[in-house]
Amino acid sequence: MIKANHLSFEYIRQDSITSVLEDFNIHVKDGEFVVIMGHNGSGKSTFAKLANAILQPKSGDLLINNLNTKEEKNIWDIREYAGLIFQNPDNQIVATIVEEDVAFGPENLGVKSDEIRKRVDDVLKIVDMDDYHKRPPHMLSGGQKQRIAIAGVLAMKPKCIILDEPTAMLDPSGRAEVLKIIKRLNKEEKMTVVLITHFMNEAIDADKIVVIDNGKIELSGTPREVFSNVDKMKEIGLDVPQVTSLAVALEKEGINIKKDIISIDEMVDSLCQLK
Ligand SMILES: Nc1ncnc2c1ncn2[C@@H]1O[C@H](COP(=O)(O)OP(=O)(O)OP(=O)(O)O)[C@@H](O)[C@H]1O
Ligand SMILES: [Mg+2]
Repeated sequence: MIKANHLSFEYIRQDSITSVLEDFNIHVKDGEFVVIMGHNGSGKSTFAKLANAILQPKSGDLLINNLNTKEEKNIWDIREYAGLIFQNPDNQIVATIVEEDVAFGPENLGVKSDEIRKRVDDVLKIVDMDDYHKRPPHMLSGGQKQRIAIAGVLAMKPKCIILDEPTAMLDPSGRAEVLKIIKRLNKEEKMTVVLITHFMNEAIDADKIVVIDNGKIELSGTPREVFSNVDKMKEIGLDVPQVTSLAVALEKEGINIKKDIISIDEMVDSLCQLK
């Protein structure tokens, strides 16, 4: 689990202080799929870095699997427990052959070579890249490279994976491939997933969405609860599903329809029931 209690952070430079997170509270339970949304500069990546103990809070606590990120002795356990994936797959690939790249993490952890072989084969299957194990990563598409980066993290057997806008640099098909794998990790591999994104469609199947703006949590709840705040989401600069927007607009016109519709099927059902 991940728990932030009254977490605050600021970047201090010689001539300026940028306050980024303020009284930030979040609780991600084991096995949950939580999406953090927010527009540029809202503090999403800062949170990911705090969760991996790359940055330290100014005040408050961040617990990863009950380990406080403030304590130096916890850092390696925290990084083993929660793997981090970044936006740009090119920055995460270290070797010239796919399987060597995936093996890099467990090799550094001192895992035995027959166990590494097994892990590499297993994780390449999970990310649908088992046919590419001998390929050079630089010849792969963006979506394929990002799946290799995910495999590299999975090979270290984390219980939780934090992905910081993993699809932001990908084309639509790459985005779809990576999103499919992320959902698979949560549903089939029972991993705790924290997905940072500003793509509304990536959040629809989450257990919980946390919306941050200027370092503060503005909305939090199920996708249905969060997206039905259409005006607030638009004010923050985020999208909501078109059907939710339509439902809220119809409701404002006096039509008796639920405001928290998030799928086309639900919209069709609701419209058919209107008298
Ligand atoms: N190293 C740094 N030094 C000073 N300020 C920083 C630093 N890194 C980020 N910031 C500032 O902190 C704020 C939050 O940045 P952060 O990267 O966490 O936002 P983000 O939500 O991830 O944005 P994006 O969607 O662009 O990735 C921004 O105003 C940013 O300019
Ligand atoms: Mg960011």
